[in-house]
Amino acid sequence: MQAVSSHLEGKVALVTGSSRGLGAGLARCLATAGADVIITFRRAEDQARAVAEEVRRLGRRAWVIPLEMGETESIEALFEAIRTEVGQLDICILNAAATSFRPLMKAEMKHLEKTYAISVFGFLRAVQLALPMIEARGGGTILGISGADTRTWIPSHGILAGAKAAMESMIAYLAVENGRSGVTILGVNPGTIRTESVDVMLGELAEPLMEKERRDHPMGILATPDDLAESIVLLTSPAARWAHGTVVDLDGGGVFAMWGRYTGECLKGLSTRPSAKSAPMADALRREKTDPSDA
Ligand SMILES: NC(=O)c1ccc[n+]([C@@H]2O[C@H](COP(=O)([O-])OP(=O)(O)OC[C@H]3O[C@@H](n4cnc5c(N)ncnc54)[C@H](OP(=O)(O)O)[C@@H]3O)[C@@H](O)[C@H]2O)c1
Repeated sequence: MQAVSSHLEGKVALVTGSSRGLGAGLARCLATAGADVIITFRRAEDQARAVAEEVRRLGRRAWVIPLEMGETESIEALFEAIRTEVGQLDICILNAAATSFRPLMKAEMKHLEKTYAISVFGFLRAVQLALPMIEARGGGTILGISGADTRTWIPSHGILAGAKAAMESMIAYLAVENGRSGVTILGVNPGTIRTESVDVMLGELAEPLMEKERRDHPMGILATPDDLAESIVLLTSPAARWAHGTVVDLDGGGVFAMWGRYTGECLKGLSTRPSAKSAPMADALRREKTDPSDA
């Protein structure tokens, strides 16, 4: 992890779903930037405790609290524990998510209910409880983690994409309705991050697909949770307050470059000789080899 400034000294940050993946990276990075961190887990308690140890090794305080984002009572119990055991909250990153991957025509109501309970209903309940606590501290940040499936089609991601799109809309509304609270409310839309759950979800496809993502990405890098976490933690600085009400795409240009990446794929193996008939764009594409990995 690269050095981040210590702009968060004296602050307390909550990261939901920080037992592994991006959430664990965020907990480590927030601690590196000076914050004490509240870590939550649903099942992976041992992993959450290991993340807390890393935070403590960085000289910061850490709390480990169970959370089921799909249940209002559990969210309310988390914030009650923050009030009584921690005593302050400055930054709230709503990162936990889970879904059922299937085409929308094969979705049953229970699949939608589970996904929406976490990323829509749970998200809003958590913001309702976090905002007054952060406002009482004189301001801070509430940040929701969205997903690239709201920007581009990803097979079997329709249920999650719908829920994240609702979260993005609520972020914009919450920001306008609470613009004078001193709390910066924003979202982040990451591109692909190689996490444990990506490996589990993709199985034997993980290795070839992740390698292809790395090769075709404009930066030629496959993001790790720590890479993303560094950029997200910068957005928790008061200097990022003009990001209020926005959802910031943190994907290194990967989603924007999608069409060109597809074109590059079609060009592979084609001769660079000009077309027989006039085809200026095809010739330019051939000449320039738009595939970033050929650049
Ligand atoms: N990975 C990507 O490529 C990618 C891309 C774009 C956006 N995102 C978004 O980034 C966030 C993190 O993704 P990730 O890949 O790091 O996820 P992950 O590895 O699957 O980790 C999910 C975390 O959320 C917790 N969690 C799951 N269901 C929960 C529930 N019902 N209640 C409370 N906590 C729950 C898990 O806890 P336990 O392990 O303790 O059960 C775990 O700590 C998600 O919002 C995801 O949609 C990911």
